[in-house]
Amino acid sequence: MSEETLYDRLGGQEGIRAVVDDFYDRLLADDELGPLFEDADMEKLRETQTDFLCEAAGGPETYDAAPVRGAHLHVPFTPELIQRAIDLLYESLEAFDVPASDADAVVEAIAAYEADLLATSEEE
Ligand code: HEM
Repeated sequence: MSEETLYDRLGGQEGIRAVVDDFYDRLLADDELGPLFEDADMEKLRETQTDFLCEAAGGPETYDAAPVRGAHLHVPFTPELIQRAIDLLYESLEAFDVPASDADAVVEAIAAYEADLLATSEEE
């Protein structure tokens, strides 16, 4: 029997999409983070974020949208806002009863890009 991957434990693409949907609902409802998505194509973002996490969790999907740094150069992130987003992601993972060690792995897949998320075009 093959070893179960994080992707399998999260319920595959369907399970990951459910967590992503819950996460983006929380982001949009947040007073500070919600306004950042004012002009965003949310359906596309939900799809690309699902692909990103599926790939990171060992699934067959591949993330082929814009590199993370370039995609967020125009977004005025601060370390506090990134932390707030991570807190909301933990809330979503908890809502789906994802065990702590798996939740940490999902969060780490995103937190690893913190420097890219914080980059601004002024540094170019
Ligand atoms: C590391 C994982 C992430 C990936 C792969 C990712 C991917 C993307 C992509 C592909 C876009 C669209 C770029 C475009 O079409 O121009 C985008 C935009 C955006 N992302 Fe992310 N993102 C990630 C993490 C985050 C996090 C943690 C937040 C926190 C709130 C966030 C907030 C945003 C915002 C506000 C936009 C701009 C929407 C707009 O102006 O249209 N992203 N992201």
